[in-house]
Parts: sequence; C-alpha cells; structure tokens
Amino acid sequence: MAESLPYLSGSEIRDKFLKFFETRQHKILPSASLVPEDPTVLLTIAGMLPFKPIFLGQEKAPQPRATTSQKCIRTNDIENVGRTARHHTFFEMLGNFSFGDYFKEQAIAWAWELSTQVYKLPPDRIIVSVFQDDDEAFDIWRDRLGIPAHRIQRMGEKDNFWKSGATGPCGPCSELYYDFHPELGDQNIDLEDDSRFIEYYNLVFMQYNRDADGNLAPLENKNIDTGLGLERMAQILQQVPNNYETDLIFPIIKTAAEIADIDYIKADGKTKTSLKVIGDHVRSVVHMIADGITASNTDRGYVLRRLIRRVVRHGRLVGIEGNFVNQVAETAIALSEVAYPNVRSRSEFIKNELQREESQFLKTLERGEKLLAEILEKKPQQISGVEAFTLYDTYGFPLELTQEIAEEQGLTVDVDGFNVEMEQQRDRARAAHETIDLTVQGSIDKLAEHIHPTEFSGYSELQSAVKVEAVLVEGKPVEVAEAGAEIQVILDRTPFYGESGGQVGDKGYLSGDNLVIRISDVQKESGFFVHYGKVERGTLKTSETVTAKIDRACRRRVQANHTATHLLQAALKKIVDDSISQAGSLVDFDRLRFDFNSPRGLKPEEVQQVEELVNTWISEAHTADVNIMAIAEAKAKGATAMFGEKYGAEVRVIDFPGVSMELCGGTHVNNTAEIGVFKIISETGISSGIRRIEAVAGAAVLDYLKVRDKVVKELSEKFKVKPEEVGERVNNLQSELKATQKELAALKQELAVAKSDGLLSQAEAIGEFKILVANMGDLDAKSLQAAGERLQQKLGDSAVIVGSIPAAGKVSLVAAFSEKVIKEKKLQAGKFIGGIAKICGGGGGGRPNLAQAGGRDASKLGEALDSAKQQLVEGLG
Ligand code: ALA
Repeated sequence: MAESLPYLSGSEIRDKFLKFFETRQHKILPSASLVPEDPTVLLTIAGMLPFKPIFLGQEKAPQPRATTSQKCIRTNDIENVGRTARHHTFFEMLGNFSFGDYFKEQAIAWAWELSTQVYKLPPDRIIVSVFQDDDEAFDIWRDRLGIPAHRIQRMGEKDNFWKSGATGPCGPCSELYYDFHPELGDQNIDLEDDSRFIEYYNLVFMQYNRDADGNLAPLENKNIDTGLGLERMAQILQQVPNNYETDLIFPIIKTAAEIADIDYIKADGKTKTSLKVIGDHVRSVVHMIADGITASNTDRGYVLRRLIRRVVRHGRLVGIEGNFVNQVAETAIALSEVAYPNVRSRSEFIKNELQREESQFLKTLERGEKLLAEILEKKPQQISGVEAFTLYDTYGFPLELTQEIAEEQGLTVDVDGFNVEMEQQRDRARAAHETIDLTVQGSIDKLAEHIHPTEFSGYSELQSAVKVEAVLVEGKPVEVAEAGAEIQVILDRTPFYGESGGQVGDKGYLSGDNLVIRISDVQKESGFFVHYGKVERGTLKTSETVTAKIDRACRRRVQANHTATHLLQAALKKIVDDSISQAGSLVDFDRLRFDFNSPRGLKPEEVQQVEELVNTWISEAHTADVNIMAIAEAKAKGATAMFGEKYGAEVRVIDFPGVSMELCGGTHVNNTAEIGVFKIISETGISSGIRRIEAVAGAAVLDYLKVRDKVVKELSEKFKVKPEEVGERVNNLQSELKATQKELAALKQELAVAKSDGLLSQAEAIGEFKILVANMGDLDAKSLQAAGERLQQKLGDSAVIVGSIPAAGKVSLVAAFSEKVIKEKKLQAGKFIGGIAKICGGGGGGRPNLAQAGGRDASKLGEALDSAKQQLVEGLG
C-alpha cells in the first residue's frame, strides 16, 4: 500500500543510493561540471557523460566501479516543463557504473534490492521493461528475481536502446517503473501512460559503439551505466502529485508564490505551470552559472539566456513586476549548497549575472511592447502567426501576453500560424540534438548544402585575399549589406582564427574598394568560420573579393597568453603534481584562465614557484616546433592531450622541446621570449576537485600593472603616505576601526538597557508573575540579551521574551525567566525560545534562565512574539 512507503527527503534518497553502492565497492565520485569535457554535447545530459572516454576504451578506468549523483540539464523538452508531472531542464541523475566489471545479472539484482530493500517500494508496484531482443535480461528478471512474465514488458529501440548522442557508446536497457495505480490490474499495462506509471531507473547494458555511419561495433569491455531520477524517486516516496512539489523544488515555488502574493494550492492551472517553470529553471540557471557559464547568444550561453528569460516571463505572467530572480535563486542556492557547495561559494557571481541578465531582459520586453504597439497601429484584422512568433522568440513575449493585449484591442491572434512557426523551430532544435537552434546556425545548415567549409589560412598569413561566400543579417542570408548593418560573413578562406580550444576569435577588418567592415568576433559553426562584424563604410556584396586582415596586436596578445597557458600547465605538472590535467581554459586578448583537476589547492609558495618557472622558460627563449602527425605518434611522444576532447586521426602538436608538448589547434608565439613576462593573478577552487588559475602574459601584464599602479597611487595620495607604507597605514586604520566598533557596541548596549526601562510599563501580570513580550527594533544580539536580562531582573518573578531584527533577513530572540518560573511552572528559557525561533525559520537555546536564539525569516517575528505571549499566558496562568 502507498501508505506504508517511507518518507525520504531528497538528500536522504541521494545519500542512500551512494551508500548502497559504496558498500558494494563503488567509489563515490563528485558530480562533474555541467560544462562537459565531451565536445559533442553542449551540457552534461547524463551521469555517464564524464565516463564516455572510459566506455569507449580511450581511457583506462581508475577503478572498476563508480557511483555518482550527477547534475544534468536537458532542454529538448523545455516546452513541457511545468505542464507534465515530471519534465525538467535541471535534474540529478544517480548512477552506478561498471567499467568492464559486473554486467547484466548483477546490475539487475542490485537495482531490485535497492528498490525494494532501501527505498522499500512494494514489489507488486514495480513493473520492468527490457529491450525487445534482450532475452538474457528477460530471463534474469523472470528466473532470478521471480517477476511474473506479464510484468516484464518488451520495448522497442525508441525506448529501450540507450545512446548519448548520434555516435558513441550505447546498448540495450532495462527500465524500472513505479505503478501509482495497481488497482487498475495487470491487464493492458501501458507504460507510456504517465498518469499511472513513472520510469524511475534505467539500466543500460553498454556493449556497443555506434560510428558515424550508424554501424554498431561491440565494445571490448561490457559496461554498466545506470540512471535513477532523484526527483522522480522523491515524487514516489514523498507521495506528492508531481516532481515539482518535492522538497527538492517546492521551496523555490513557494518563494516565487510569496513574491507574487499567490496561494499556490488555490492557484489555477496556468499559474501553477508558471510557478513550476520558475522552480525548475531557477535550479538550472543557478547551477549553470556556478559552473562558469555566462549568458550569451551562442551555445550554452544562449541556453542560459533563454532559461533566465523564461523565468522572467513566467514571473510577469503570475503578476511579478520588476526584478525578482535573485530572491528565488537564493532559495535554490540554499537547497543545493550541501550537495553542491559551489553554488554558495559562487553565489555573489551567480547573483550578479542574474541581476544583469534580468534587468537587460526587462528592457527588451519593453522594446517588444513597442513593436506590438506598431503592429497594432496598422489596425490589422488579426495578429499574424509570424508576428506573434517574432514577439515570442525575439522579444520573449509569451503567446498568452500577446493574446491578452490583442483581446483588449478587439483582435485575435493566429494561434495556428504561431504553432506552425513554433513546430518548425522545434524541428530545428531536435535536428541539432541537445543544442538549441540559433538563427545563425539554422541558416548555416542550409548554406552547407552549396558552399564549402572555410579554409583557415591564419597559421601562416595575417592577411589574405578572400571571396565572400555568404552574408547574413540577423541570421538570414542577404545579397548586399549596407553601411551600418550588423552582419555575419562567411568567406572561402580566412586568416581569422575562429574561437575554439579556449582561444577567442581574432578581431580585424575586411576591406575593399571604399569598403570597410570591422570584425569583432569569429565563431566556428559546422565547419564555417562566421565573422561577426559591422559595415563601417560602403556596401558588401556576396561573391566579391575582399582583403581579410587580422589585428596583429590582438593576435600577438592572444598568442602570448596561449603559449603561456601551455607553459603554465607544464609548470604545474612539474612543480605540483604530474597528474594535473586540464579541465578547461580561456585564452583571451587581455588574460588567460586555466582550469585543472587537482584534489587540493596550491600553497602560496607553489604558486610563486610555478610563476617563476614559467618566466624562466620565457627568458630561455625556446623555439616552437609545430608539426602535424598521427594521433598515435603524438601520444607516443608524450604530448599532452585534453581529457575527453575529440581528436581526428591527424593532430597538430605544439612543441617547445624539453618544456611543453601539447596537442593544440591554437595560434602560438614562435619563441617563448616573445611572451616577455607572465604573472599569476589568482588561484582558486571553482568546484570540487577543480582549481582555476587566472593569469596574464605579454602586453596584458602591462595593462594589469597599470591598473594596480593607479590603485596604489590613489591610496597613497588618499592616505598621504608613500606607496610602500600603504599596508601599514591600512593596518593602523583597521585597528582603530575595531576599537571604535567595540566602543560603539558597548554604548549601544548601554543605550538599549536604558531604553528597555521604557518597556517596563508594558509588563502584564499573570497570577503572581509578570510577563513582558516585546519587539526591540534593530538591536544587535548582544544588546538584546543585555536588555532582556535587565528587564527580567527589574520585573522580579517574571518571564521576558524580546526579539529584534538586527539585519535584513535575520531575527534575534532572547528569553529570560526568573527562578520561580523555572521551578514552579516548569518553564525553561532554553527550550521555550527554541520553539519560538522555529516559527522564524531558526533555532537556538541556552540555560533555563537565559537563552538566545536566531532565525532567518524576519517577516515572522510578529507571529513568533504573539505565540510566545500566548504560551506564557497559558504556561504561567
Ligand atoms: N544513461 C542512461 C540515461 O540517461 C542511464 O537514462
């Protein structure tokens, strides 16, 4: 019976899963970043992704078994979020993995044991499925575990053959479903009926690799990959109607509902959907930003932007005006911080990014409102599907909003036309797998039918005569672009580097007869180099020949930073640990960032040694030796490759003999001496097991020093001391400040005590006792305690409860009881105040006569004090 299911919180479900497999010799590994090392997907979409190179046999497994709770994001079904009971963008996948170790029989047996013994699901509530041809799995379920044959469903390739993308490791799977309505009987079991069944655990028997032509080749080692949906198990065990109302998400929904002043329980379906979308998406955006993604118009940056915009839109739909995302984000951070501490350590960064995007989008929405006004001015019969879709897609107007405004004007919206546009957009998104379709990308896919991928000439040339193959304006191909137009240009060949391998795209100019186009960025899309720019002068026509010239100074800067990144990696390996490996990098014009796997942070002296070694190599003037060779040869030579990166058969090797040898497609200095100097700016942790070094090299060092120098000069002027004395001066000021603060606190306390006397007249007599319950404004905790104690002493046989809000979102409470209250009425200040603090979302305690507690929800202080008074009246009467 459902009633006998044990309630488990989301964290308990997660912990029990990991523990279960840990006691079965699986190593618990931390969740990998949402930014995958695997270049074939934009985001981490399954627990297996970090292990793909192991499943493919490209890497050796460090241990034969592992278990993880992996943060995942999928956006292919984004429109269903909030509408069905279980669609998410962000979710956590619990997985157990075998790398050539145990296989089908053991995986199935453990899945059953975990389900029925740990999560205590009644066996008659579980239905299983197997791949149609997988008799082996069928027999294990029936003969080993005694599942009746009619409760083992055979399913086709669509449902029961798992792959992480078009190519890569894959295999048949077996799924476990929970039955919400066993009373409907075992006839006509339809596992697609999601009002009755929920698939909660997928066991993939990974035994094949699919190549680009779709052929399946058996893998050398057979592996197990599994995924148990944490939110789904929470829905089952917490017996709530959908995943959103579990303790993993509902607090976020509640925060949003509070801001909108809505009672979620009483809300209509549409409002609930919007609140659920907010609850889901906020988790995604918080974790994406924590993992270093920032909003942009490409790739995962675009996914992030789209999600934030949807949160804002749905906030407007439920009546929230102005900025609110950070408030809901705070709840999401508080929910996740124990399992994923980086959301708290990076909360400031997260909130800044959200605030910026949200404010910017609110402005866009205003522009959309203007466009809508223009459409309406034309006095149409109806708002067309294309117009409604443009408003939705470009300006973030939900269809409902357009409809509402149209209705006010006595118009309708062509919803069918809108749906046609929407469906086309979805097809494009699906075709691109997990990637969100970009307008530019969509056009490029079409262009690919008649033009060739761009040839890159920029390793040897800084300037080339090139042919314009295509010009796009707002993502759509055009024949000509006039001065002022923002464009994307595709050339037959180009000296411009396209952003890849962490190195940003080149800047520069395209020029011709009376023609100047400034190029500000270059991105690679499906083999094309897309030059983003603006026509400054003249008219650009497709098919004409122009001169493409990169900005040499920028290129020099970027390659100094790039080579320095290689030297940095080599120095880290040499000085800190040879096992250090790259986890990501950014090579920009003015800085470099290198993320690496390392179980611990670096000591300050190690950072210094690394910096010194890189500078030594720079001054030793090592010459670059760049060669193309077979991947096997490069590996045999000991070239450093990036974990998870997809390399072709031939690779480019950048060798500074004796110092650093790496596979890399980037641009580099010819000799390390060109770098000049290298300076590390910071070394920090960005998520568990991953560290980040930020540094500058070459001309960028001078920029960095200029800024520092200016700050020091300003400080020394302000403090009227020499630059080298600033430190001492600041120390002195800090000591003075501390002393002043101490004095101030003492004075405040005295004042509070004096002020508290004014409250004495508010005391009430209850039998032979006096009680006093009062809100003392913004007193700090110490002063509040002094005041409470003094009031109690002055009132004699009495019980005093005082509260205050010392800072935003913070509650302080103090209880002071006299001896007689404790002895005769058996009331204890410590216990009493603990109960009261709970109302304000906190806790605390202390001695029977004097106790202090705190809380986080300041809006509940009034309620808490009322309750304290009532309890005292009852307890002392
Ligand atoms: N990789 C499998 C899935 O995502 C477990 O369902």
